[in-house]
Amino acid sequence: MTEAALSVRRDLERLLPLVEARLLGPFRDGEAERLAEAMRYSLSAGGKRVRPVLCLLAAEAVGGDAESALPGALALEFIHTYSLVHDDLPAMDDDDLRRGKPTCHIAFDEAHAILAGDGLLTEAFRILAAEGAIAPERRVRALETLAVAAGWRGMVGGQALDLEGETLTREGRDLGLEHLQTIHRLKTGALLRAALELGGILGGAEGSRLDALRGAGAALGLAFQIQDDILDATSDASTLGKRAGKDSGKGKITYPALLGLDGARKALQEATERAVCLLQSLPNPSSLQAWARYLETREA
Ligand code: IPE
Ligand code: IPE
Ligand code: MG
Ligand code: MG
Ligand code: MG
Repeated sequence: MTEAALSVRRDLERLLPLVEARLLGPFRDGEAERLAEAMRYSLSAGGKRVRPVLCLLAAEAVGGDAESALPGALALEFIHTYSLVHDDLPAMDDDDLRRGKPTCHIAFDEAHAILAGDGLLTEAFRILAAEGAIAPERRVRALETLAVAAGWRGMVGGQALDLEGETLTREGRDLGLEHLQTIHRLKTGALLRAALELGGILGGAEGSRLDALRGAGAALGLAFQIQDDILDATSDASTLGKRAGKDSGKGKITYPALLGLDGARKALQEATERAVCLLQSLPNPSSLQAWARYLETREA
């Protein structure tokens, strides 16, 4: 095991229980029981929890404590899970396997999958607005950061460009690297960047430290989606817990499609190095740097 992987394992042993203990609580004891079941189903299907753990580590990286960033970490995983539930819908990527289980719309139905996404999204803002001991000004900044990252100037916008890209490719249009970078920066980069930024805000950071977290988060987000593209082209469903080989089948523009596998791997390495380098100025950068290196070689 590499040193980075060992560091990641230690972080997961320490921080994952904090996240898991609180993840399902908000989705119990409501009246719409089948909807709550659909939300719990997708949340507990076994995601890697990359965004919440990075958020907690970002708080620690700037000298804060993980507990202070917990509402942000939970909110991120709710929004990420909603984005996957909707991403898998027939109108979007039309997938039947997610996190090793049938997708939400297969296990329940399309209406419940749409509503489960809506419920997860809105619960994210409730938990960040109401829970934890957060100074009011920081809370508002965190809420705005998350809204921009998740919304139409962020993840949702990226999802639209991703789908519109399929149509353009089918019409024979050549979409270049800059266009692809925009899609990746928005659909995946925005939320990963927000994970580091929220951790920083809730951990008490200001100024240049927040800038460093934002820059590193953006680089890490790009790296993460490049690796997702590479895994779609090279791995299999039993390793990934989701279907592989879908991107080329749908004519999506991806890093391997545009640059070939070697070119994609080089871009992944460059983005990872950029993240590691930008983190260096923080008081405690080593855990986040180990995560960047670990994510570069992840197999799922
Ligand atoms: C998958 O994200 C979708 C992308 C944004 C690339 P993850 O690989 O973090 O998915 P889970 O949470 O582990 O299922
Ligand atoms: C997903 O990108 C991005 C979001 C869900 C926001 P993909 O469509 O590539 O993710 P997977 O491969 O289905 O997990
Ligand atoms: Mg998609
Ligand atoms: Mg998809
Ligand atoms: Mg993918």
